[in-house]
Amino acid sequence: MKKTIKNFELKGKRVIIRVDFNVPLQDGVITDDSRIVKSLPTIRYAQEQGAKIILLSHLGRIKKEEDLAKYSLQEVASHLANLLNQTVYFSNQTRGKELEDAVQNLKEGEILLVQNTRYEDLDGKKESSNDQELASYWAKLGEIFINDAFATAHRSHASNVGIASILPSGIGLLMEKELTFLSSLQNPEHPFYVILGGSKVSDKIGVIQNLISKVDGLFIGGGMAFTFLKAKNISVGSSLVEDDFLPFCQNLLATYPEKILLPVDVHASCQMTQEGESRIIPIADIKDEEAAYDIGSQSISLYKEKLRDAATIFWNGPLGVYEIPKYQTATKELLDFITSQGKKVILGGGDIASAAVNLGYEEKVTYISTGGGATLEYLEGKELPAIQVIQDQ
Ligand code: 3PG
Repeated sequence: MKKTIKNFELKGKRVIIRVDFNVPLQDGVITDDSRIVKSLPTIRYAQEQGAKIILLSHLGRIKKEEDLAKYSLQEVASHLANLLNQTVYFSNQTRGKELEDAVQNLKEGEILLVQNTRYEDLDGKKESSNDQELASYWAKLGEIFINDAFATAHRSHASNVGIASILPSGIGLLMEKELTFLSSLQNPEHPFYVILGGSKVSDKIGVIQNLISKVDGLFIGGGMAFTFLKAKNISVGSSLVEDDFLPFCQNLLATYPEKILLPVDVHASCQMTQEGESRIIPIADIKDEEAAYDIGSQSISLYKEKLRDAATIFWNGPLGVYEIPKYQTATKELLDFITSQGKKVILGGGDIASAAVNLGYEEKVTYISTGGGATLEYLEGKELPAIQVIQDQ
């Protein structure tokens, strides 16, 4: 059991909270603030306890000078201030006198957000390579370190692993919730079904290998379905196929023939647009020049029928190209079906989380993980470095 924020006396202490404010931006505007909203309970708890709060986060990936303005956390500071309805101080520096003064001036309950930790990556990848000098510098700003950035827990950065190996450390309330829900999938109530979509089999191999023995059924959709279908010698037209992974799929299908469900029909077209002519057809009818962009209506009915008795469902990756309205059907219909049945439904991974939020299912599912890569690595059974380093109770 890792220490949590509740194991520390926070009053009057400078508490560094590592959050994941790596939110999607379009023209400088935040398009999904879920990660900020989900960090609020930890921030509010620290405030109520009288902590002086220093928030650290990365945003995007900083490779060149021009990325600095694009990935400034300034907009996030304003957004957080609106959500909390109070002042959030912002330091435009990741180190230096202005930052140190801002930290010294903090009073109990006040919040300072530090500029994007990956600004330090311009100078020899100091943040992303967990530079010890940088970690010590940041650690000196605080007295206690709380990691609430589950979505970054698979990274070994100065702002998570580095500081945690220096200061007394614990996990935040969001991190605790993520671990509670995701670890419940290691010993789930059965029948336990996993729905996997998204474009590539190669991204999901570890998760499949770790979960296949625990699941009662694995439902495949999205682009990755076509590598599985081709592995069964079924023609998939111009649909996305990862030829290097055909042997993996063949082996899996041969070992677990009764567990793996594949689509029997698809929504196909010669072009991936809303306007292009498209048709719902049995897999066998797909033409060479056509590609499948969603699973078809018979597959949806088949999946619903099998999912009817589920007690626990984990879902990663949309079943079609959900950004295009006509290829949202399978994702939307299955979300609708499983959330209307009172089942435990956990969604993990950025794309299915956005699909659920955009399609209006956020409140209806049991839990949506804030992690993308971190959720997958956790479910692959890997130890996440930023969690491993936190002190035990
Ligand atoms: C994420 O969005 O998955 C995390 O914030 C980590 O971001 P990264 O993939 O750029 O390290």
